[in-house]
Amino acid sequence: MAAVAAKLHVLMACALLLLAVGCQASPFWPLQIGFYHDKCPQAEAVVKGVMEKAISQNPGNGAAMIRMLFHDCFVEGCDASVLLDPTPFSPTPEKLSPPNDPSLRGFELIDAIKDAVEAACPGVVSCADIVAFAARDASCILSRGKDVVTPNKLDRQYYKNVLSHTVLFTSDAALMTSAETARMVVDNANIPGWWEDRFEKAMVKMAGIEVKTGYQGQIRKNCRAINYY
Ligand code: HEM
Repeated sequence: MAAVAAKLHVLMACALLLLAVGCQASPFWPLQIGFYHDKCPQAEAVVKGVMEKAISQNPGNGAAMIRMLFHDCFVEGCDASVLLDPTPFSPTPEKLSPPNDPSLRGFELIDAIKDAVEAACPGVVSCADIVAFAARDASCILSRGKDVVTPNKLDRQYYKNVLSHTVLFTSDAALMTSAETARMVVDNANIPGWWEDRFEKAMVKMAGIEVKTGYQGQIRKNCRAINYY
């Protein structure tokens, strides 16, 4: 087991840093952060390629990845545990819990990304990093608005809708009933870049919850199951 552990590279700590700079078109950002630069230089481009295609086919794939990261990170940290299928030893994994089943989607997309990444660099990129990269790419692609139409764009429109009373839920309208949250709505709606900046920082913070480092964790062969060897 120790020998196995010694082979494991765990990498998630870097994913959050990558989230921070992922929206820059700069070709230099992987070099600045560079976690996979030596181990798998193509990794992030491979993820991005799959995400761009998936979002162009259905922008909902982007939303799915953003929510996937949230649902993974809020239960025992960002460890890709939400991806695990049931087994006889673990018949009711997170995936089957009410917050996830049946509404969490995108598991096949994660499989497709993992397959593409494994084809490029077998056994190098963790499933948790794949989720973080996919969510980062989704945020960037959807906020850029390229190839997506307005309802699918990730922007501050929601807050403008709260101000114009064109929101769906009682909980949306309730944001205007306290001075503190009303102020946030007004700032998010009216100050260009204000919400975007906070969203990015929040995603980076979220992607850092209990990340595994050093010899913790493992690089799964298949994101749906832990490796037995
Ligand atoms: C405790 C706080 C939250 C609650 C109670 C909540 C609840 C929900 C619910 C009920 C849905 C609809 C699911 C369905 O299709 O039936 C949803 C969708 C979604 N949530 Fe949340 N959410 C929360 C926080 C968040 C956060 C922090 C994020 C982003 C980081 C997020 C991102 C999303 C996205 C992107 C969708 C749409 C997913 C898709 O289209 O597949 N949510 N959420």
